[in-house]
Amino acid sequence: MARAVSAARGWVPETIWRKVGTNLHLQEGHPLCTLRAAVQGYFESSAPGEFGFFNELHPVVSTVDCFDALCVPRDHVSRAPSDTYYVDAGRVLRAHMTAHDVPLLRRGLKAFVNCGDVYRRDTVDRTHYPVFHQVDGLRLLRGDADAGGELRATLEGLARRLFGEVDVRWVDAYFPFTHPSWELEVRWRGEWLELLGCGAVRREVLRNGGVGDEYQGWAFGLGLERVAMVLFDIPDIRLFWSTDDRFLEQFKGRGLEARYKPFSVYPEVCKDVSFWVGDGFHINDVHELAREVAGDLVENLSVIDRFAKDGRESLCVRVTFRCMERSLTHDEVNALFAQLRQRLQNQLPVVLR
Ligand code: DAH
Repeated sequence: MARAVSAARGWVPETIWRKVGTNLHLQEGHPLCTLRAAVQGYFESSAPGEFGFFNELHPVVSTVDCFDALCVPRDHVSRAPSDTYYVDAGRVLRAHMTAHDVPLLRRGLKAFVNCGDVYRRDTVDRTHYPVFHQVDGLRLLRGDADAGGELRATLEGLARRLFGEVDVRWVDAYFPFTHPSWELEVRWRGEWLELLGCGAVRREVLRNGGVGDEYQGWAFGLGLERVAMVLFDIPDIRLFWSTDDRFLEQFKGRGLEARYKPFSVYPEVCKDVSFWVGDGFHINDVHELAREVAGDLVENLSVIDRFAKDGRESLCVRVTFRCMERSLTHDEVNALFAQLRQRLQNQLPVVLR
C-alpha cells in the first residue's frame, strides 16, 4: 500500500499556500471585508482609542503561540496533523486568531482586535472550507474592575450592531485559554445561531504574555464566514472565493444591508468511489485530495456506506461536483474523478475496489 499523505511530515498543499496573502477581509466591497469593518467600527465607537486593530498578521505562527502559550492540552485534537497544517515541526498555519494574543500582550498592548485568515483541514461541504476568517479580541482590566459585566455588555452590543434588535443567550462553553467560557447565541429567523466564543482569560495565559497579576482579561473569537452566510443569505462557503462579478457586485456599497440572490443554480454531478482502508488512513486526507484535484468545483464529499469484512474496513464515498458559475461538462467531471481515483490509490493507504 502507498504511504499516507501526512502533514506530520510538514506537508501543506500548494492549493493552500496559494490562499495565503489573499486577505479577503481587506478587499473593499467583499462581504467578509464589510463584516470585518462593521466589527472593527463597533469597537472603535464603543471604546474610542482603546483597541489596537491588527488585520495583517502573518498566518505562519509557532506551535508555542498557537497551542502551548494558550494552555491547549498536549492531546487536544486541534494539534493533530489531521486537523492543523504543519509547516514544519515547530510552525503551523494558524488554526485560530487567538494564536496572536500572547505575542501582542508581550508587546505591552492592553486591548486589541485581530482579524485574519485561519487554516484547518476539514470536510468538504457547503459550510466548511480549509481557509476561513476570524476576528479575535482581548482586553485587559485592572483586577478590581467588573470584567464579566463588561464582557457581556460589549459582546451583546456587538451582536445587536450586526443583527439588529435580536434576542441573545449565553451558553456555558469550554476553551483551553479562558475560564469560565461562554458562547453567545443570537435568535435569527427562528433558530439559535452561535455567534462567538469568549471568556475570562486564564491567569497562566496572561502570565505567558508577561501581564502582571494586578490585571485580568476577557477575550472573544468569532468566525466571519458563518456569520456572513446567515446575515447575507450566502448558501455556499466557496462563494467567498468567487471572482465572479455576479457575486461581488451584490455587496459593493450595501454594507450590512446586502442580501445575496443566487444568479443561477447549476446542476450537480455525483460520483461514487469505494475502497478498503489501511493503517494510517484519515478521512480528512480524502477531503483534501478532492480539493486539490477539483478545487472549488467539489461541493460535497460524504461517506455513504461503510462495512467491515475479515478485519478490513471498506468505505463508499460520494463526491458531488458543482460549479457556482457555470455548468460542468461530463467529460470535465469524468477527468477530475479519474484523477482523484488515481491519487487516492497512489497517495493514501487505500485499495480501490
Ligand atoms: N479560538 C476559538 C476558536 O477558534 C474562539 C475563541 C474563544 C477565541 C474564546 C477567544 C476566546 O479569544 O476567548 O474556536
